[in-house]
Amino acid sequence: MREKEGILLRPEEPRDFAAIREIHQLSFGRENEAVLVEKLRGSRDFIPALSLVAECEGRVAGHILFSRVWIRPSDPNLPEEVSLALAPLAVHPDFRNKGIGSELVTQGLKICRQYGHRLVIVVGEQSYYARFGFVPARPKGLEVPFPVPERAFLVAEVIPHPGPGLKGTIRFPPAFMDVV
Ligand SMILES: CC(C)(COP(=O)(O)OP(=O)(O)OC[C@H]1O[C@@H](n2cnc3c(N)ncnc32)[C@H](O)[C@@H]1OP(=O)(O)O)[C@@H](O)C(=O)NCCC(=O)NCCS
Repeated sequence: MREKEGILLRPEEPRDFAAIREIHQLSFGRENEAVLVEKLRGSRDFIPALSLVAECEGRVAGHILFSRVWIRPSDPNLPEEVSLALAPLAVHPDFRNKGIGSELVTQGLKICRQYGHRLVIVVGEQSYYARFGFVPARPKGLEVPFPVPERAFLVAEVIPHPGPGLKGTIRFPPAFMDVV
C-alpha cells in the first residue's frame, strides 16, 4: 500500500470489482475493457499484485492492470519469453488530471520490476506513455498479431538488459483478441 498526496494505491480486492467495471466503461465508452479485466481476472495470466486501484477521497478513482503475455521469437528454436502487457488503464472522469494515472503507471512499473519482468508493452497514446519511459516497440524488433499504428505500440524496458534485446511477436491470451 502506498499513499501520496491523497492517492492510496493498493492491489484490487473483490469489493472493488463493481467500481473497476464502472471506471473502464465510463472511460472507454464501451464494455470491452471492463470485460477484458474480468476475463483476465479469471485466467491463469492474471497476477493479483499487478491489478492496482487508486483510492482518492474514499472512492476507487482509477485502475491499472498488467498481465502476462509472451514474446514468441522469430527464431523457432528459441523458447517463448514471458512478458507483461499494460491494459487497461483508466481514471474516473471525476478524478482526472490529479496525477492518479501517473501514480498507477509509475508504481505499477516498479512492481513489474520487483517481479523480475524485463519488458512491459502497451498499445496506447505515445504522448501519454512516453513520460514513463515507453518507446515505439517495432524499431526494437517487437510485433503484435493485429494491426496497430506504429506510434501506438510501445514498450518499456523496466530492467535494463545488456546484449541483444528480446525480439519477436507478442502472443496475447485469447481475452485480448475480443478487445482489439
Ligand atoms: C489517460 C488517463 C488514464 C490519464 O489519467 P489521469 O489521472 O488524468 O492522468 P495524470 O493526471 O497522471 O496525467 C495527466 C496528463 O495526461 C495527459 N493525458 C490524458 N489523457 C491523455 C491521452 N489520451 N493522450 C495523451 N495525453 C493524455 C493530460 O493532458 C495531462 O497532461 P499534462 O501532465 O501534460 O498536463 C485518463 O485520462 C483516462 O482514463 N482516459 C480514458 C481511458 C484511456 O484513454 N486510457 C489509456 C489508454 S491509452
